[in-house]
Amino acid sequence: MFHYETMRNTPEPCRRPLDPEPKLCQLCQLRADTPGLTRCSRLVVRSEAMRDLLVRAGPIARSGDVPVVILGETGAGKEVLARTLHANSPRADKPLIAINVAALPADLVEAELFGHEKGAFTGATAARQGLFEAADGGTLLLDEIGELPLAAQAKILRVLDRGEVRRVGSTRERRVDVRIFCATNRDLANEVRHRRFREDLYWRLKVFELTVPPLRERPEDILPLARMFLSELDHATGRFTDAARELLERHHWPGNVRELANAVQHGAVLSEGSDIDLGHLPEDLGTESSSSASTSALHSLAEVERAHILRVLEAVGGHQGEAAQILGIGRTTLWRKLRDLDEDVGATD
Ligand SMILES: Nc1ncnc2c1ncn2[C@@H]1O[C@H](COP(=O)(O)OP(=O)(O)OP(=O)(O)O)[C@@H](O)[C@H]1O
Ligand SMILES: [Mg+2]
Repeated sequence: MFHYETMRNTPEPCRRPLDPEPKLCQLCQLRADTPGLTRCSRLVVRSEAMRDLLVRAGPIARSGDVPVVILGETGAGKEVLARTLHANSPRADKPLIAINVAALPADLVEAELFGHEKGAFTGATAARQGLFEAADGGTLLLDEIGELPLAAQAKILRVLDRGEVRRVGSTRERRVDVRIFCATNRDLANEVRHRRFREDLYWRLKVFELTVPPLRERPEDILPLARMFLSELDHATGRFTDAARELLERHHWPGNVRELANAVQHGAVLSEGSDIDLGHLPEDLGTESSSSASTSALHSLAEVERAHILRVLEAVGGHQGEAAQILGIGRTTLWRKLRDLDEDVGATD
């Protein structure tokens, strides 16, 4: 089974005229006055930070062949940015194939990426092309590239240098013309320092680096995104109450845009078609809204820290490195805090 999706993007350019009060394009949700990028699907861009990112992205998209590394926290929108780059590149009429490297079993990575010949390994009952061949002429997005085994990294270097792939079990080189995008929420330079990522490949890939800012650093995007997500659901009023809007804007969003999309869906279901109010949003969103709470609901700093650490860890699926990055502390500090938490729990048991 291949673990990938093929995505074709909206072929129609967006032609909305310039607007002094910029609005989102109904077709592609991109602000039409974003220089350089005219095609995309479903991208909300309101904040200066995202706008700056797209201004940088325009020429990179058009450059056609050059690899791009896309960095950003989990759920921040790395894949949507990759799609937008591809849709505005000369390769737009060819597929963008996205593969989450972390989801592939280690022993199948090479066969999936480069293909295999019949009988190359147990279970290879027929020859099959890999994702590089499938993406020929288009773009391959290697998501979570930090997880790629070293042997596969060497082969990718070969594709980049020579434009050739060799299927597992074959001696024949096949020419491919594929642009590579990589996305990661790991610190790749750190992976290189620890020899988990090849330095030569790192420099070869890192021609352009784009970082999608976390949602908490661009609060202007929160409500436009929330409205877009709600408009895609079957919801009678399609509105939030003032209090709900305020809470959405105040939340820290450790899971970024994905967490927001989930919160909106949660609200849409519980509100049953009426305006989405505080009580319809996930409970953990409320933990930061203590300004209007009574004193009995106020917590000590240690309690807030504890709740926040646990929430971030939950949002990133327990990945301590990622959690530390979001929390803005070192891994060791996080480890120490978790140990203290465990001890506290042990003491109260
Ligand atoms: N600016 C945006 N406009 C519209 N939708 C967005 C935007 N940013 C993110 N999303 C949506 O939020 C969800 C998460 O985005 P995406 O998959 O691109 O994140 P990611 O950074 O690749 O996450 P991960 O690190 O978990 O792979 C998707 O459903 C995506 O469509
Ligand atoms: Mg992704």
